[in-house]
Amino acid sequence: YIFYTLKGLKALEEQLKEILNIKKVIISPNSSGDDPFVYKDMGKTASKCINSIIKNDSIIGLTGGTSIYQVVMEYKNSRDIEKYKNVTIIPARGGLGKEVEYQANTLVQNLANKLGCNYKTLYTPDFLSKGTIDSLLKEPSIKSIIELIEHIDILVFGIGRADKMAKRRGLKNDEIQSLISKGAVSEAFGYYFNENGEIVHEISTIGIKLETFKKIENLIAVAGGSEKAEAIASISKLNKNLTLICDESVAKKIILKY
Ligand code: F6P
Repeated sequence: YIFYTLKGLKALEEQLKEILNIKKVIISPNSSGDDPFVYKDMGKTASKCINSIIKNDSIIGLTGGTSIYQVVMEYKNSRDIEKYKNVTIIPARGGLGKEVEYQANTLVQNLANKLGCNYKTLYTPDFLSKGTIDSLLKEPSIKSIIELIEHIDILVFGIGRADKMAKRRGLKNDEIQSLISKGAVSEAFGYYFNENGEIVHEISTIGIKLETFKKIENLIAVAGGSEKAEAIASISKLNKNLTLICDESVAKKIILKY
């Protein structure tokens, strides 16, 4: 039975990889419709994936959210305190949300503690004016983290639905409607995209730029739940180097739809 299940999942992974035209897909099986363990499993898979590509001087970028939180939770402590001493972990962009435990800055510190490596944080709010951004970018401490962000080798990021993320960030109803009427279906690292992977809106904050994202060699997206099908398909258009770690329910939904 397990043999057939695994074989079935492998076929599903290949099919989804072809449809999305990306580097790799890893699917966690769902035991039931609403399966909380699947997020743990996706986190574990992602942590193994990071482990297999991490080099002794890697710069790893993380975003916030519950999916990447699970990745950090599932990461095992390194027993070798020397191994990662030149690795650096940074948030992909600034952030000061209400739920501190899911913020990129918190996840960065937790993962760095597990690996025994360096980290930097970036505590800047979303929604900054252009003038504020320009002057903050002149600050040496912010400049140095922006330089690191531009050299991220491995980015581990979450994917959200545009409507849900706009709501989570406290946008007003008419602002959410305006995003949706412009075709926004997905959100990742501070950008909202339409189904073709074109920018609909960009949060005015400090952090990773889309041009940088498009050049990163190792991209690991962690996203599950069938309601994220369109969002995942949209983000997959941005960079073919993507490794997608998702669950069976959303994999099947994407295959049916596209
Ligand atoms: O807010 C950070 C972030 O990574 C967003 O860019 C993304 O849309 C969202 O979190 C994903 O959150 P979750 O994993 O909780 O669905």
